[in-house]
Formats: sequence, C-alpha cells, structure tokens
Amino acid sequence: MPSNHTSMGVTFIGCGAAVPETIVSNDDLAEVVDTSDEWISSRTGIRQRHLCHDRESLAGLATQAAQQALAMAGVAAVDVDLIVLATSSAEDLFGSACQIQARLGATKAVAFDLTAACSGFLFGVVTAAQFLRSGVYRNVLVIGADLLSRWVDWSDRNTCVLFGDGAGAVLMQGSGDGDRLLGFEIKSDGTQNACLNLAFKPELRELLPGAILTQGKYHYITMNGKEVYRFAINRVPDAIDKVIHQAQLTSTDIDWLILHQANQRIMDAVAERLHISAKKVISNVAKYGNTSAASIPIALNEAVRSGKIKPGDTIATSGFGAGLSWGAAILKWGK
Ligand code: ACO
Repeated sequence: MPSNHTSMGVTFIGCGAAVPETIVSNDDLAEVVDTSDEWISSRTGIRQRHLCHDRESLAGLATQAAQQALAMAGVAAVDVDLIVLATSSAEDLFGSACQIQARLGATKAVAFDLTAACSGFLFGVVTAAQFLRSGVYRNVLVIGADLLSRWVDWSDRNTCVLFGDGAGAVLMQGSGDGDRLLGFEIKSDGTQNACLNLAFKPELRELLPGAILTQGKYHYITMNGKEVYRFAINRVPDAIDKVIHQAQLTSTDIDWLILHQANQRIMDAVAERLHISAKKVISNVAKYGNTSAASIPIALNEAVRSGKIKPGDTIATSGFGAGLSWGAAILKWGK
C-alpha cells in the first residue's frame, strides 16, 4: 500500500544504460544511401550508431539499463514502487513497461509507458517526481528506451543517418532530507506537430456495408529537419534559462549541461546562448547518434561512471523533439 507522507524531496541515486551490439559507422551507411562520413559528421557530429539486431529487444535493453541503475542505487527490484518507461517504439502498443517489470522481478511496482518522443525521459523524471514528492512512492525507475531503427526509412538519407538505438535508466528515490530536483519546465506545441511524425498509416477496410474501418501500419519517421533545428535552438535555451532562474541559480552555477543528443551543432548553439562553457557540455552523440528518449540517461550514465559527474554536481538537462515537445530541469546528482 502506498504510504502518505508529505514534504518529501527527490534524489537521483542510480543510473544505467545498454546499447545494441551492432555498430554501424557513417562509412557503412554510405553503402546504404547516398551520403558520406564528411556530410554526417560535419552537420550532426555523429560518427556511428548502435542498431538493434533480431535477437535484441527494447524490453531486454531497458531491463539491463534498469538493473544497472538499481545496483548503483543499492535498491532491490522488489522495492521498486513505480516504473515509468519513456518510449516511442514500444514492442506492444498496449505498453512495454510491464514486460520490464516482469523481467526485473519488480513484483510490487506499477509500470506504464509514457510517450513524448525525445522529451520522454525528461517528462518521465518530472512525472516520477510528483509521486515521490507526494510521498506516495519511495523508489521509482525512469527508463528512456527507443529502437527508432525499426521506424526509419533506410532509403531516406535525410533521416536514417540521424538515429541510433539504446536504453538508459535512473533510479529516483524519495528523501526527507532535501530535494535534488531544483526546477523543471515541460512544454508542448501541437501546432508544429507535422514537423516530426511516426504516424499511423490507415488502410480502409469495409467490414460491413457502410462500416468502413481503418486498419494498417505506421509510416516511417518523417521530419522537417530545418524546422526542428530552429525550434530546438530557440525553445531549449529559453526553457533552461527559466529553470536556472526557478532554482535561484545563474548559468555559472551549472556544472554540466546534458541536452538530448540530437545534433552536436544544437548542443553547441544552446551552450553558447546560455554562456555555458563547451567544457561543461556532456556529449556522446558521435558514438550513439540520436537515441531519442534514451539519449539523456545514456549520456548521464557515461558521465557518472567515468567520474566526470560527481555527487553534488548541478546538472542542467533538456529534452526536445516530436510533439513538438520540450522541457528542462535542474538537478543535483546523488544523495
Ligand atoms: N547525406 C548527404 N546529403 C544529405 C543528407 C545526407 N545524409 N541528408 C540531407 N542531405 C542533403 C539535402 O538533400 C540537401 O541537399 P540539397 O541542398 O541539394 O537539397 C543538403 O544536404 C542540405 O540539407 P539541409 O536540410 O540544409 O541540412 P541541414 O544543415 O539543415 O542539416 C539536419 C540537416 C542534420 C537534419 C538538421 O536540420 C538537424 O539536425 N535538424 C534537427 C533534427 C533533430 O534534432 N531532431 C530531433 C528530434 S528527433 C525526435 O524527437 C524523435
């Protein structure tokens, strides 16, 4: 049964990540579509990506990432109260979170999917914080996982070079001793929805005379890259500025900037607008490409495990993407 304490804070005490085995370089991709390592790396910073093969799965990668986060946090799977899976590529439209719950043996946890494309992990963290702050739950796993390689048109060089597959996770724990989520802002603008879609592709089927149903599959990802780029470099700095202010900090107080890893040029432009030194920008887009909801926790995990991010460090983070949706948060790592 949920407890009902109030005035609880949020801590971020564990992280993990998992990516598929198969690595595809830009040169490899140049054998699939008319592109080059020079074009991809100069426009995006991406040099390679990990792509899921037929024996790997979203639930499998997400479970590995979650297990690492639990181990780092020293929390047993049976003590997890809630699992939020941020994904746009669930293996079951009814949701994939429950498969992860079963694989983890998190028997007490309630589990559900949350879809907000590349903003999904951040939206998941903010969602989890509400349950923790209210005291309803104590241990929440927020997982960002996406296998967009399944939904990319591998003959469309405008999109296929951008994406990679992977999963990342954090364990958030309620705390009576301070709140490490110092500010957040999450936003949507559906008027720009057509900029980036993975849309249903209806096929008409007349079930009975006059009863025409729509059945079908999904279109591949379509994207207006220039519009998304413009949107990101305008909205993201504003959102981060706002949360820095909310946290009663200035940009010089930020130790690390972890943006959704879509494009190195976006990260550089955002850091410049915020007057945050390039040395503070955590970037691994070169190795993984855009892993959508997984990109922020994969980057966080690498930076924590390499010792770059230390307990007590202040992190500004921002996710942005389809919806269009975006958000930012300021958090302090560790207990
Ligand atoms: N290889 C070679 N040439 C290419 C490729 C490629 N892979 N892709 C496009 N081109 C060509 C285009 O056809 C165009 O040629 P043309 O001038 O003859 O028509 C030329 O390169 C220039 O294309 P632009 O669109 O001007 O390239 P731009 O500099 O804008 O970069 C990019 C494109 C990288 C997609 C950029 O717009 C971008 O990063 N946008 C943001 C995408 C993003 O961040 N999405 C995140 C959200 S994802 C989510 O939420 C799921």
